[in-house]
Amino acid sequence: MLVSAKEMLEKAKAGKYAVGQFNINNLEWTKAILLTAQECNSPVILGVSEGAGKYMCGYETIVGMVKGMIKCLNITVPVALHLDHGSYEGAKACINAGFSSVMFDGSHYPIEENVKKTTELVNACNVLGISLEAEVGSIGGEEDGVVGAGECADPDECKMVADLGVTMLAAGIGNIHGKYPANWAGLNFDVLAAISAKTGDMPLVLHGGTGIPEDMIKKAISLGVSKINVNTECQLSFAAATRKYVEEGKDLSGKGFDPRKLLAPGFEAIKATVKEKMELFGSVNKA
Ligand code: 13P
Repeated sequence: MLVSAKEMLEKAKAGKYAVGQFNINNLEWTKAILLTAQECNSPVILGVSEGAGKYMCGYETIVGMVKGMIKCLNITVPVALHLDHGSYEGAKACINAGFSSVMFDGSHYPIEENVKKTTELVNACNVLGISLEAEVGSIGGEEDGVVGAGECADPDECKMVADLGVTMLAAGIGNIHGKYPANWAGLNFDVLAAISAKTGDMPLVLHGGTGIPEDMIKKAISLGVSKINVNTECQLSFAAATRKYVEEGKDLSGKGFDPRKLLAPGFEAIKATVKEKMELFGSVNKA
């Protein structure tokens, strides 16, 4: 069964740890993340970008795949299926398709428009018991072709959006998607502390989890971050393991070309990355 992210994130906020959101791209990704969550006895959030949604043949296909896997693999830890950086239309489509959580990213709108659209979705999600993530201050880097500059959110605007009744709030604090450039200034903890002070119990979301040093992750959690999104790091692990398999010529030996063999090292690499993150975030044995 899929659950809303509300309860797992409230527990994380109170317990000073974070739940990982790991983005999925296909069956192997999804299976690797679900199995690792079960092995670590950790709650987990499966993230789906709109681009990945199209790639996997639509939101209904994904709901069917994830629900089927939870049943077949006997997954008993809490699993939320979450739209990542959704448009207003995308959020509505996911709500209708059976997602248990959605993000509406209105950070590129003027704040009034962001508030208006977020409010409409708060009402729709509340009726159905679906968790809703909102965003203030766009996250830098590239996500599905949209490049943001990595601004820091205004703490007063964060409070305004948190007060609408969203479940969790993503706020830019100098974080960006993808690999961090060598001259990256790091997370802005003064802004995070100010946002935390204004928004109280609201679980805060840290996007761009790939490549943030461990000490910064721990400090962010201590300042109220309860959900951390990781995408690129699983892709890098998968690609490196697959490259090694092919470069060692294993696809040319015996039945090494069988996709179940060819994709196995990448699958194991995703599992190792997810486990490492769950340990770092402190969500192990918190299911
Ligand atoms: P990374 O790809 O940098 O890990 O960011 C993931 C993310 O924030 C998804 O919303």
